[in-house]
Amino acid sequence: MRQFEKRILCIGAGHVGGPTMAMIAARCPQYEVTVVDINAERIRAWQTDNLPIYEPGLLELVRSARGRNLFFSTDIEEAIDDAEIIFVSVNTPTKTFGEGAGKAADLQYWEKTARTILDASRANKIIVEKSTLPVRTARAMERILNANHRNIHFEVLSNPEFLAEGTAVEDLESPNRVLVGSSDTPEGRAARNAIVDIYAHWVPRERIVTSNVWSAELSKLAANAFLAQRISSINSISALCEKTSADVAEVSRAIGMDSRIGGGFLKVSVGFGGSCFRKDILNLVYICESYGLDEVARYWESVVSINEYQKRRFVKTMTNEMFNTVADKRIALLGFAFKKDTGDTRDSPALVVARRLIEERAIVVISDPKALANARADLSDAPPGRVVFEQDPYLAARGAHAIALLTEWDAYRALDYEKIFDSMEKPAFVFDGRNLLDHEALYRIGFSVFPIGKPPLKQS
Ligand code: UDX
Ligand code: UDX
Repeated sequence: MRQFEKRILCIGAGHVGGPTMAMIAARCPQYEVTVVDINAERIRAWQTDNLPIYEPGLLELVRSARGRNLFFSTDIEEAIDDAEIIFVSVNTPTKTFGEGAGKAADLQYWEKTARTILDASRANKIIVEKSTLPVRTARAMERILNANHRNIHFEVLSNPEFLAEGTAVEDLESPNRVLVGSSDTPEGRAARNAIVDIYAHWVPRERIVTSNVWSAELSKLAANAFLAQRISSINSISALCEKTSADVAEVSRAIGMDSRIGGGFLKVSVGFGGSCFRKDILNLVYICESYGLDEVARYWESVVSINEYQKRRFVKTMTNEMFNTVADKRIALLGFAFKKDTGDTRDSPALVVARRLIEERAIVVISDPKALANARADLSDAPPGRVVFEQDPYLAARGAHAIALLTEWDAYRALDYEKIFDSMEKPAFVFDGRNLLDHEALYRIGFSVFPIGKPPLKQS
C-alpha cells in the first residue's frame, strides 16, 4: 500500500463520487483512490461490470483503474484512517420534516459523516466538500471536526462538482472549470494546492479556479439556479408561443445567437428534472429567506414554479385534446429518465406526468431503455392495474390512444412510426414533451401532433 504517493478517499459512491473518483484514479496512477459507501450493495456493484449507475464511457473508465489504484470498499473507518485527502459526496436531499421542510437541505448524513471522520482519524486530514451544500456548511463541518482534543487538524475545502448526468465522463475529462474554495491561511493554501495538484494531472491550469470557501459553495448553487432559470425562461415563452403563432424553436435559435445570451440550455421541455436543480434552487431560496432577503427568495422560487406549471400544462393539453378524458385510455410514455443517457429518475418530469395521468384514471405504459428499474420503484405505490412497464417501445404503444415522449433518447427518433401508428387506437395522438420527433412526418402518417411551444398539427 505504501508505494502510492497519496491516498485519497471518497465517502459516497453515487452519481458524483463514483465517476469523479474513477477519473482521478485513471489520470493519477500514482495515487491510491478508495471509494466507500454505507450501502454495501452499491459497493458490490461497483466491483462488478454491472455498475450501479449508467453513464456512457464509465465502465471503460472504471475498468482501466479498478484493482490497480481504484478500490471500492465498505470499511469506512479503516479507509478514513488511511487517507490524507477525503472527498465527501454523500447525498443532501431536501428536508422533509421540521424547520425548512421542503426547502432546506437535510444535513443529517453530512453531519454523521463528519462525526465518522472525526472518530476514525488519527492524523491531520484535508476534507473536501463535493456534495452541493448550503453556503457556510464547510464552517459547520470545520467546527465539528476541529472540536477534538486529540490535536488533529482538519482543513475543510469546497470543490463542487459541475458534471451533468449522461455526460459525466466527458464533463470530468474536460471540465469548463474546476473550482477549489479554501481558507486564506497557510494550512488552507497548502490544502488548496494539494487539491489543485490532483486535477492538474489532466485539466489545464487556467481552468482550475480558486476562491474562498463560501464563494465556491455559493457558485455551485448559483450555477444550477442560472441554468434552471434559462430552461424556465424558455419554457415560459413556450406557453406564449402556443397561444400565438410563434414557434419556440425559432425564438430560441434567434435569441441564442446573441453572443451575450448564448445558445445553451434554451431547449424547451416538459420541465427540468434531476437530483439537483429543484433541490439547489430551493436551498438558495431558503438561505435567502433566512437572511431576510424575501424578494431574492421569491425571484428564484419562481424558477421552480414555472417548472411545476410546465409539467401541469403538458398533462392538461393531453387531457383537453383527448376529448377531455383519458379515463381507461392506454397512454404510452416514451422515456422516464429525467434526461437521455441516464437511468436516473430523481425528480423526473415523467414521474409527475405519470402520476397526474393515473389520477385521471388512465392506464399508463412506461417505456425507457435504462430507467425501468427506477421507474418501478418510483411508482410502487400506484393503484394496481394502472401502470404497465414495457421496455419495447413498439409493445408499449400497441393499443394506446396516445404517445407522450418525455425523455429525448436518440433511439426514439429512429422508431418506425408507421408501424406504431398502425398498432394504435384511432385517432392517435403524439405529445412531444421534448420536441424531438419529426412532427410533419408524424402528421403525414396520420397522427395528431402536439409539440411544445409550436402550433399543433391536428388531423381534421
Ligand atoms: C450527491 C448530492 O445529492 C448532490 O447534492 C451533490 O452535489 C453530490 O452528491 P449523487 O452522487 O447524485 O449526489 O447522490 P447519490 O447517487 O445518492 O449518492 C450518494 C451516496 O452517498 C449514496 O450511494 C449513499 O449510499 C452514500 N451515503 C449517504 C453514504 O455513504 N453515507 C451517508 O451517510 C449517506
Ligand atoms: C445539472 C448541472 O448541469 C450540473 O452542472 C450540476 O453539477 C448538476 O445539475 P444534471 O441535473 O445532471 O446536471 O443534468 P442537466 O443536463 O443540467 O439537465 C437537467 C434537466 O434540465 C434535465 O431534465 C434536462 O432534460 C433539462 N433541460 C436541460 C431542459 O429541459 N432544457 C435544456 O435546454 C437543458
